[in-house]
Amino acid sequence: MRVSALADLHARDRDDAKRLADLLADAARDADVVLLCGDLTDHGRPAQAEALLEAVHGVDAPVVAVLGNHDHEGGCAPEVARILRSGGVHLLDRGGAVEIGGVGFAGAKGFAGGFGRNAVRAFGEDALKAFVTESVVEAQALRAALKGLGTRAKVALTHYSPVLETVATEPVEIHSFLGSSRLGQALDEGGATVAFHGHAHHGAPEGRTDGGVPVYNVSLPVLHRLGRGHLALDV
Ligand SMILES: [Fe+2]
Ligand SMILES: [Fe+2]
Repeated sequence: MRVSALADLHARDRDDAKRLADLLADAARDADVVLLCGDLTDHGRPAQAEALLEAVHGVDAPVVAVLGNHDHEGGCAPEVARILRSGGVHLLDRGGAVEIGGVGFAGAKGFAGGFGRNAVRAFGEDALKAFVTESVVEAQALRAALKGLGTRAKVALTHYSPVLETVATEPVEIHSFLGSSRLGQALDEGGATVAFHGHAHHGAPEGRTDGGVPVYNVSLPVLHRLGRGHLALDV
């Protein structure tokens, strides 16, 4: 199976539909399944989800997606998710999974938290503990979704990065807000074959978890710098 992946579409309004339709049509032409790794909308407004859905309707391939932080900005992420699902998008939220053509897909938005020895620890104030808990819960959900798949290949989608490598070219001050190595552990323990993420617009295109799972940052600005509108891979 061939998949095309991209992220950070940041759909703005109906006038944006042509740009989105072209992006998605190109991605679908190259693959059997299209993967969208979050920040589907610019501010998480239902009208922006409708604009994206209009573009999805022209796509002749299954679309699997996770939400990003921007999709939560408007305070109506459940409505955004409902709209996308109503149009047939396989939206994998907080550890959802779907099997298509014998390949398993598991997804979670993920969350911030940082990497390795410099990861934020649950210590001190309740607000900080809540921040870390969100990171842990998202990683646990991804791990469980991957473990629940019995397929030969397990493809993981997140919005936040599971590895430092793909955010290393971003300002060091924001690394902790771009992902969490807890997600990387989840990929290793859940037996992921390959993982895709977005969010790090100024990040690097590829990395690997400690366990050797290949990780691709498919944020559109990163892809555009490589002269691409999506990344197509065999899984
Ligand atoms: Fe983004
Ligand atoms: Fe983002």
